[in-house]
Amino acid sequence: MSSSSGSPNEAWGSRIGLILAMAGNAVGLGNFLRFPTQAAANGGGSFMISYFIALLLLGIPLMWIEWGIGRNGGRYRKGHLPGMFAAIWRHPAAKYVGVVGMIVPLCVMIYYTYIESWTAAFAWFSLTKDYWGIETQQGMLDYLRSFQASPANGAPVYHQPWTPYAFFLGTLAINIWVLSKGISGGIEKLAKIGMPILFGLAVVLAIVVLTLPAQPGIDATPWQGLSFIYDPDFSRLDEPGVWLAAAGQIFFTLSVGMGSLAAYASYLSKRDDIALNGIATAATNETVEVVLGGTIAIPAAVTFFGVAGAMAIAQGGSFNLGFATMPVVFQQLPAGNLLGVAWFGLLFFAGITSSVAMLTPIIAFFREEFGWKREHIAWGFGFICLVFGLMHVRWLQYGFLDEWDYWAGTFGLVIVAVLEVVVFVWIFKPENAWKSIHEGADIRIPAVFKFVMTYITPLYLFIILGWWGWTDALPILLNERSAGGGVVTAENIPYITASRAVIVLFTVVFLVLIRIAWKRNKYDDRAGFVEIDQTPEAP
Ligand code: ALA
Repeated sequence: MSSSSGSPNEAWGSRIGLILAMAGNAVGLGNFLRFPTQAAANGGGSFMISYFIALLLLGIPLMWIEWGIGRNGGRYRKGHLPGMFAAIWRHPAAKYVGVVGMIVPLCVMIYYTYIESWTAAFAWFSLTKDYWGIETQQGMLDYLRSFQASPANGAPVYHQPWTPYAFFLGTLAINIWVLSKGISGGIEKLAKIGMPILFGLAVVLAIVVLTLPAQPGIDATPWQGLSFIYDPDFSRLDEPGVWLAAAGQIFFTLSVGMGSLAAYASYLSKRDDIALNGIATAATNETVEVVLGGTIAIPAAVTFFGVAGAMAIAQGGSFNLGFATMPVVFQQLPAGNLLGVAWFGLLFFAGITSSVAMLTPIIAFFREEFGWKREHIAWGFGFICLVFGLMHVRWLQYGFLDEWDYWAGTFGLVIVAVLEVVVFVWIFKPENAWKSIHEGADIRIPAVFKFVMTYITPLYLFIILGWWGWTDALPILLNERSAGGGVVTAENIPYITASRAVIVLFTVVFLVLIRIAWKRNKYDDRAGFVEIDQTPEAP
């Protein structure tokens, strides 16, 4: 790796470190919780067909586009989307448009870290056998709700009210500590330790699940779970919802549209490859998701609850499958508590290698534009994440988190992706985009992808945006339907409104900060930025 690019004194230490960090960025809770649930709830084999089409036409092209935008931003020491957009589009609006690339990762990081903290808690509860003896789905759902400090009326209370707060605080502190150590000293080290552990645990769990014996009274095997997901099925391909769910999963799982891949790529120089590294990241993520993610939760649920039972659980949401079904399964197996630690430990490592990536654009912004020290920004923003994260902990049951998951984690990703394609492919021009992606490249990308990036990906994105806007975003905005599914209750409306107000507040604050940064650094919107010296240091 050329070590002189990106932000002051920041660069990846090695190619393997970069690939692991990028893969860690992409591989997350989405691979092990969201993917199996989405696949099962959207028709299994039909979902997989639309999923692979979305991977080819959206995911892979957007992966290269994000790396391209990021590495190009790094030439001007810009690790955040406002700067990256302004480096390409010499227009005063460019920097403001890029604000979505700050808000989306910030919001996702906050609620994602909270969910990550559940995995830490459940690893602990597994180790200590805290939930042992609660052997029904409903029992474990009550246990989960009790942990989330939102027990249903009359349901048993198993935890002290402070428990979720303590785990959230601890998980956030670990994230911030890693971030305070920098790109190679923190994020890359975490990836080098966390990713092999994650792969190892996933392989062990997949083998355990595939060798599960048939359960008395349940006429199903783990292989039936696999064939439900993987046997091609064309019957539901006429449902737009299946296509939208597949596209949404591709965005979330690859982390495209979050600005975090671009931030990581900004620490590369123009001599570094992004074509091969980009596809390697996508391939790693997909292997982990489709091969390992698909082999654990659904086949385990099918073996213990039958195909129909597992589908019903999946319809109930990703958390039911991961936090209620899996603990029931583990209790039936030898050394089940250690398998529980393996499962929740796997989720924790998958989560943390993604959540640290999401705060990277923010840290880059303050370092590069205001010259603040990384440690100070990390701990300062850690405090901000704590304050807003506590709202999620406190108001989870009122739909506060669902709002962010929808506006930032679903709809927001498509908005960022649309803007990235427009800026990088249309404004920069396809020729320049293609050339830029191939600078320093170790492979030549098949020319058909140039056509795909220029026409097909944008068209696909606009269709998704329009369709989602009409069928989801509008009804959710008008409170005709809740972001988490179901109806909006009068009790929830103040929390939903507050949740949206925070997103608006973040947006306004960052727009002002961008303005201040540009004035302070006397940037000329029409002239662009001065390129930094990317000459490799003497060995
Ligand atoms: N890409 C990350 C995940 O799958 C965000 O969870």
